[in-house]
Amino acid sequence: MSEGNHDVFHLGINREDLEGAEIALIPGDPGRVPKIAEYLENPKKLAFTREYQSYLGTSNGTPVVVMSTGIGGPSAAIAVEELALLGVKRFLRIGTTGAIQPHIEPGDVIITTAAVRMDGTSRHIAPIEFPAAANFHMVRRLVGAAEKLGQRYHLGVSASSDTFYQGQGRQDSFRKGFVHRELRNKIEEMQNLNVLSFEMEAGTVLTQTAAYGLAGACISGVLVNRTRAEFPDAAVIGDVVQNTIKVAVESLTIA
Ligand code: URA
Repeated sequence: MSEGNHDVFHLGINREDLEGAEIALIPGDPGRVPKIAEYLENPKKLAFTREYQSYLGTSNGTPVVVMSTGIGGPSAAIAVEELALLGVKRFLRIGTTGAIQPHIEPGDVIITTAAVRMDGTSRHIAPIEFPAAANFHMVRRLVGAAEKLGQRYHLGVSASSDTFYQGQGRQDSFRKGFVHRELRNKIEEMQNLNVLSFEMEAGTVLTQTAAYGLAGACISGVLVNRTRAEFPDAAVIGDVVQNTIKVAVESLTIA
């Protein structure tokens, strides 16, 4: 890690630190960064500042940066903006999600083809008519990796909400499920629109990557099926995260 003199405002890293890396694996949780880096060759820690923990490693000799985005659009947008300024061109979000269609099980993964922009941040990047669309080739590689590893996956639209509780219609909030009228019945609306699941960052990240002429994709491990439960079973969380990481890292090796 280089001290003091950084090229970007928040990340605590320089262009030289990335050793030419053009691919970033971006989980939300800083704690997942070393877990992802373990699957790369020669992992080394770069920096940990605010919500942004970063490691560098290689995949088949190609440099890859792993960096957390924190939760939600505003911090994810800073992460993508500043990594792009440092030369990153391909962004793969590795997240977790709550499924809203009954056929999806905890432990499955969702490969997002596009995200519903229920965030505020992406509106600062592009008007709401602009699609938060994933890069076709990255999606194709994620599908190939899931099939190779025998991981059950679902391909489709996710909804990205700025709030974990109100926007996702959770009943376990402080106000016991109360939401103001614009957000009422959001789960039902999204289910009827065939949205697969809720998470919090893809809408921002995929708007940025599509609008900037970069490549972005998102794979999320299903922690809970919201048609049956609000809370994940603690026993499944570790495996869900590991399996999602394995598919994401494997996708880097697919031509
Ligand atoms: N992340 C979310 O945003 N929602 C969930 O239900 C699970 C993970």
